Amino acid sequence: MTTRWSRKDLLGLRELSVDEINLVLDTADAFKQVGTREIKKVPALRGKTLVNFFVEPSTRTRTSFELAAFRLSADVINISAATSSLSKGETLKDTAKILEANHVDIIVLRHGSAGAAQFLAERVRSSVINAGDGAHEHPTQGLLDTYTIREKKKRIEGLNVAIIGDILFSRVARSNIFALTKLGARVTLVGPSTLLPRDFEKLGVTISYDIDEVLPTADVVNLLRIQHERQRKEYFPGIGEYIKLFGLTKERAKLLKPDCLIMHPGPINRGVEIDSELADGNQSVILDQVTNGLAVRMAVLYLCGGIAA
Ligand code: CP
Repeated sequence: MTTRWSRKDLLGLRELSVDEINLVLDTADAFKQVGTREIKKVPALRGKTLVNFFVEPSTRTRTSFELAAFRLSADVINISAATSSLSKGETLKDTAKILEANHVDIIVLRHGSAGAAQFLAERVRSSVINAGDGAHEHPTQGLLDTYTIREKKKRIEGLNVAIIGDILFSRVARSNIFALTKLGARVTLVGPSTLLPRDFEKLGVTISYDIDEVLPTADVVNLLRIQHERQRKEYFPGIGEYIKLFGLTKERAKLLKPDCLIMHPGPINRGVEIDSELADGNQSVILDQVTNGLAVRMAVLYLCGGIAA
């Protein structure tokens, strides 16, 4: 059966079917080849306009969406909180209505509040792509992580994937959990109990507070940064204690299988969640994640952009 894409917006991976996730990954496969050509551009979104609307800081996601839009021949405008009238008290809805009145086709939104992308999607005809909303979801990160695992391991089903760190405040963790469990991976979450409530078990994952117990059987480890910007109190005694108990140190990495992939969505706090040499070592696929992010975002823009009114 051929899966057809019928979504104007990409707000999260919780609501996507297995077929829809696979359609994005397969479409990304086709677009990845575009990046190896001399002329890295296709006319798929010629005549469409995309606004990169980033109310929170970003390096990877913003650059990746901008490049993806260029490669699809769309016209791109970047707006940040500091340079928009949000800084003068304009509401998100009014800003979005202004964009719509200018016949913008696609809005890529990063926002500090969970649900911001859905709020916008319900109020504008333009496609809305969630580029990370608070601690809710970061769907294109979940898709590019899944794509990278599938590319390197040739499958997702049956793999042991450990997601390690600040799970509670991580939108990346949630989007990874939704995509990977739907595709049949066994996901184990690891972190301090204050940042890993038992509630997460309802998402079909295993929980562990002992990293050394999980590392030897992992096919993939995905390290997460401590999201200080979202934390309102201290969740562990200090960075030294965190590294001792949950950091992927060189000593601890000896527990990993030689073919275990080391992943990190970035930005990395070197020497905290991961040793600096391991981040650059031969098991690390961190830069492959970045490269694949471009292909995945081209796929998402192409699929949603084709539906936009
Ligand atoms: N992984 C990620 O979302 O990175 P940025 O915050 O730099 O976009």
